Amino acid sequence: MNTPEALPPQLSESAYDRRRLRQWLTGGARAEGVSRRTLLRLLAVAGAAAGTSAAFGPPAAAATAPGIVKPLPDSWFTVRGTNAESRFASFAETGYHTPNERFFVRNHTSTPVLDADDWVLTVRGDGLTHDRSVEFTLDDLRRLPAVTRTAFVECAGNGRSFFTTQQGQTVSGTAWTLGAVGTARWRGVRLADVLRRAGLGRHAVDVMPRGLDADYVTADGANLGRVRRPLPLAKALDDVLLAYEMNGEPLPYDHGYPVRVLVPSWIGVSSVKWVGDIEVSAQPLYSPWNTDFYRLFGDAHPVEGSAPLTRQTVKSAWEVEWGAQVAAGTAHRLTGRSWSGAAGVVRVDVSTDGGGTWRPARLHDAPRRAGWVRWSADWLPRTPGSYTLLARATDGAGHTQPDTTVHNTQGYLFDAVVRHPVTVT
Ligand code: MTE
Repeated sequence: MNTPEALPPQLSESAYDRRRLRQWLTGGARAEGVSRRTLLRLLAVAGAAAGTSAAFGPPAAAATAPGIVKPLPDSWFTVRGTNAESRFASFAETGYHTPNERFFVRNHTSTPVLDADDWVLTVRGDGLTHDRSVEFTLDDLRRLPAVTRTAFVECAGNGRSFFTTQQGQTVSGTAWTLGAVGTARWRGVRLADVLRRAGLGRHAVDVMPRGLDADYVTADGANLGRVRRPLPLAKALDDVLLAYEMNGEPLPYDHGYPVRVLVPSWIGVSSVKWVGDIEVSAQPLYSPWNTDFYRLFGDAHPVEGSAPLTRQTVKSAWEVEWGAQVAAGTAHRLTGRSWSGAAGVVRVDVSTDGGGTWRPARLHDAPRRAGWVRWSADWLPRTPGSYTLLARATDGAGHTQPDTTVHNTQGYLFDAVVRHPVTVT
């Protein structure tokens, strides 16, 4: 009568296997001689057999988001619908690069668990010579020259909640604070190399990668198809990668395994995860992601919206808990990070008294295009009370964070100085 279903969970082989695989994933189990790829495949099968990723059983004090595979410990993430925001304060424990397990996840639907052995990239369209269709396997990509680039990925809506909490304005979309950003070392091949190998024609103007995740259906039931967004050819040939590694490891499932597009400095939606095909077109292309979304709409903008958004604006964030308690009469070293899509950050000014007085922060990294700069400031608060920390960055192209951001209905590109509350006790 001991069917697998009837066994208590601790005696079920499949539950044991899932637990063991999960331990391996979090570094708690050894697996010498077994390839990571094999273990990831087993993990995927175990997850599929159990129905959903949540059936792995979350680790202690971890939340789950529908459709995200990796554990989301409360100390690292805030779950927002199908997405997970990194807690910026917890970046104080990390180096320049954001570890894969702490990197924010923005999913329109859910993470597809793909098998790299079955994966093929199809490049097609009338922008290729002879309007042909060319396929690349992962091994084909690995045979091309590999390139490594450090770049942040940041959601265009990062900081959106401050339109409401700081400017009293209504906006739609996920109410991110400042943790929809992370910086990683990406390795892969140049999109330019792949396009040229596929036979790039002289009339090509746009390139549209499309993800292999499920169709995106809006809250009011419109099926917009799979996530896809055109890139002008000039950007596609410039610094865009088809990345297969993140911080020295195969891309994690949630970040696009086996291959994602990485568009340095541009809004996150350009960096299509789980890319399955790329259309190369001799005419400009459109998708909901460059028409209805990811333009600026609202009173201050044209009725048809701004031009499609490309580069990120300038931002700064403190690596300090929101509303932290800080002891009076003690010297504190406060840290943070600033970044910009236009150029490396060259200067950060901070205020610990709500903007009354300002001083330059000490920068710990050289300005880096598509990367961030870590900084610190020493503070000796003498009197208990409520304080507001401010940080204002300037990038090498001369952009400085403003006091307010011009409103747009979807709450994109919030770049104003954020008012960060702390209490001195
Ligand atoms: N690609 C696919 N296929 N599906 C998605 O939902 N989300 C985009 C982009 N690429 C998305 C995608 C958005 S809006 C962002 S901000 C980034 O992926 C987030 O990347 P991450 O989840 O690796 O942090």
